[in-house]
Amino acid sequence: RRNLQQLQERTLALIKPDGIPYMGKIIEAICCSGLIIKQLRMCKLSRGQAKDFYKAHMDKPFFEELANHMSSGPCVAMELVAEDAIAKWRLLLGPTSTEVARMKAPSSIRANFGTDSTRNAVHGADSYDSARREAHFFFADRMFAPCAKFFNVTLG
Ligand code: TYD
Repeated sequence: RRNLQQLQERTLALIKPDGIPYMGKIIEAICCSGLIIKQLRMCKLSRGQAKDFYKAHMDKPFFEELANHMSSGPCVAMELVAEDAIAKWRLLLGPTSTEVARMKAPSSIRANFGTDSTRNAVHGADSYDSARREAHFFFADRMFAPCAKFFNVTLG
């Protein structure tokens, strides 16, 4: 039985630095899929903040590379709302690896705009608990470095 929480589920979506040139297209895909953007914020993570955001992957061999990438330029964080928002956004973004995404989900965001498993354009919370933690990470009153100098991005 569906309860109100599932009907109004929230998730956290993140456009990573390599996805920024395609942010218009990514936001269009989000809006077309019935996900509602509840909050949106552009900010630049420090290396420490990037490590904190991805701390679940601290022991993985790609952790340093991931932290470097995530702090290399601005990100756009969004809180999305919809029925089954977590699963909807995960489906729209596609598999982690761009190569796999292009084979198995060719219309997904990662298939279209990703480069590899680190620079894969977008992130999506994978559970109710991570959605809550990640939305708090970006939308509680936290200071991020100003990113005005990054607004002059080349759009793809
Ligand atoms: P993971 O939770 O496996 O994937 P997803 O982003 O699809 O939930 O991994 C989280 C992030 O870790 C992923 O978006 C980018 C990084 N990562 C790498 O940099 N290299 C890798 O080989 C993998 C599997 C992940």
